[in-house]
Amino acid sequence: MVLGLAPRVRVYRNLAAATASLARHIAQTARSSVRARGSFSLVLSGGKTPEGVYRRLAQRYRENLPWKATEIFFGDERCVPPRDSRSNYRMAREALLSHVPIPRAQIHRMPGETRPLSAAAGRYARLLGPIRSSNNANAARFDLVLLGIGPDGHTASLFPGSPALKERRRAVVGVTQAGQPPYVPRLTLTLRALNSSREVCFLVSGREKAAAVATILRDPGRADPRLPASLVRAAGTTTWFLDRGAARNLSAERSLA
Ligand code: 6PG
Repeated sequence: MVLGLAPRVRVYRNLAAATASLARHIAQTARSSVRARGSFSLVLSGGKTPEGVYRRLAQRYRENLPWKATEIFFGDERCVPPRDSRSNYRMAREALLSHVPIPRAQIHRMPGETRPLSAAAGRYARLLGPIRSSNNANAARFDLVLLGIGPDGHTASLFPGSPALKERRRAVVGVTQAGQPPYVPRLTLTLRALNSSREVCFLVSGREKAAAVATILRDPGRADPRLPASLVRAAGTTTWFLDRGAARNLSAERSLA
């Protein structure tokens, strides 16, 4: 049984509406984090779904998000060069990071091109510094972690049955066998790192993910390694931003946000 706050679920008529709401939420969280603590640490997710959120942040929140006090990290990376079309960093740079006034020294790219994987993972873990495994939001390493899921329930590069799911000490590990395309080695934050967050937001779109979403949210207290996203628990709140396709298997009372 994984204790923690029950997740919040927001269902939108389409991905565009979910994207707009999540971008607004990120900007609000950034402003409140900086007011409260002088900084905002944001972990970006990869894949295709979040690209619209990054573009919207660049277009709508260039002026009213505290970029100078923001630090950017990555939840996972494909082990390809940063200019490779499969790179999560390249997607984030093109959609967001090259359009906003965030100091370059505050953008922390995962060194996907570094070998061996253990050296790349160790380098990023050292950059993160100590991560205390605590469910105290005030001890969290990150203010906000963005995540997606695959149809198999993976999140970041934590795939069903992966040894990485059992990692309790390290914050970053290499993954030699990706469970979904692109089938390249990966670097990923471990659950220890992902759960050291004041807040986690999942953004999920599409019917092909509805079964995984429903299984996870039907019993949110159940941690099932066959569905790695079910193991993610922010020290603070976990919120799911879903379009109607991803929410189609949820019980009817989930009204549109
Ligand atoms: C990655 C992501 C991965 C992604 C899901 C959903 O590197 O691929 O971190 O966890 O969030 O696979 O990907 P899509 O948004 O492309 O469906």
